[in-house]
Amino acid sequence: MAHIQLKNISKKFGHHTALSGLDLEIQDGEFFVLLGETGAGKTTTLRLIAGLEKPTEGKIYIDGADVGDWGAAERDVALVLQQYSLYPRYTVRENLEFPLKSKIRLVPDAEIKERVARVAKTLRIEHLLERKTDRLSGGEMQRVSIGRAIVRKPRVFLMDEPLSALDAKLREALRTELKNLQMNLGATFLFVTHDQIEAMSMGDKIGVLNHGHLVQVGTPNEIYNNPLNTFVARAVGSPPMNLVDGSLVAGRAVVAPKTFELPYEGALPVGASADGRPLTFGIRPEDIVLESDAPVSATVHDVENHGVEKIVTLRVGDTMLHATAPARAELAMEQTVRFGWNPKKVSLFDRGTGRSLRHGA
Ligand SMILES: Nc1ncnc2c1ncn2[C@@H]1O[C@H](COP(=O)(O)OP(=O)(O)OP(=O)(O)O)[C@@H](O)[C@H]1O
Ligand SMILES: [Mg+2]
Repeated sequence: MAHIQLKNISKKFGHHTALSGLDLEIQDGEFFVLLGETGAGKTTTLRLIAGLEKPTEGKIYIDGADVGDWGAAERDVALVLQQYSLYPRYTVRENLEFPLKSKIRLVPDAEIKERVARVAKTLRIEHLLERKTDRLSGGEMQRVSIGRAIVRKPRVFLMDEPLSALDAKLREALRTELKNLQMNLGATFLFVTHDQIEAMSMGDKIGVLNHGHLVQVGTPNEIYNNPLNTFVARAVGSPPMNLVDGSLVAGRAVVAPKTFELPYEGALPVGASADGRPLTFGIRPEDIVLESDAPVSATVHDVENHGVEKIVTLRVGDTMLHATAPARAELAMEQTVRFGWNPKKVSLFDRGTGRSLRHGA
């Protein structure tokens, strides 16, 4: 168990800046998810914490100790990678024993046996212990990789997209298992992913990384309901938040150019004036309501059936909006429908900076 702190971390590879001015704090026992697109700097952040890479600038603390001069082994962190790195000609048991058999650790045989048994039980791989790892399915291999990490009880788990090579069903199952595992172990996890569903469903906290900058840190709820800017608004939610340009006129949201107008009832921070200023309105698909007596007329541009619900694309002039509708709703392409929105759920972003007015300048 451990508390991790990154202070003003920058990392340059030649002229390329992979990370800049990164401040990050992970509490003891927290499941922290770093969410970012490819090249955002996620793996680099993990490698810095693991001690496989040195920062160009800044400091890393584990449990309050500056680990700048510590090697990877001394840091006592476990790194689980996207591609499982198992020894193929060895059995699952041998793979699990290996991290405990290093000369510097000197774990007694009886304890090795007991720890392997416990890990195998936790990950439900007991029946696979005597099998060679090249005879395992992808999901089983990934479980063994995770097992190899937990068997030696590290202070911190660093996981680099460990589920991304798996199929959807397995990914879902392992998501739940990993989360349960973390809660049972009470361990500190830094889990890196580009998958916003993983981030939303697993994280106690999410940090959104964009081109080496940490844009926002918050609980999944904060990130979803109160995104700091339009980048974060687009990064979470599927389909993402609708973003349409317009301005507030006498308390009404007028979507430009004169496409439609709807009421706005959100609070504004004290002193913020929004009237007439160029804005981007943000509204989640589930906060758009289709009703026969709703104020605005639209055309059904597309309907996607997702089983539990439908995702409807509405066309109003040149503007496209995603809305959700119940699975039983009868909607045909090019049909005319009427919609409104929940006026309390509209986010306002400055059109120039993209920053939410709720978060101030
Ligand atoms: N050893 C290196 N030498 C030069 N550039 C590097 C090196 N490692 C990473 N980079 C660059 O730093 C940036 C961040 O890379 P990083 O691997 O951290 O991204 P990532 O968020 O993990 O992306 P992905 O989702 O594709 O794994 C990228 O532009 C990458 O090309
Ligand atoms: Mg990576």
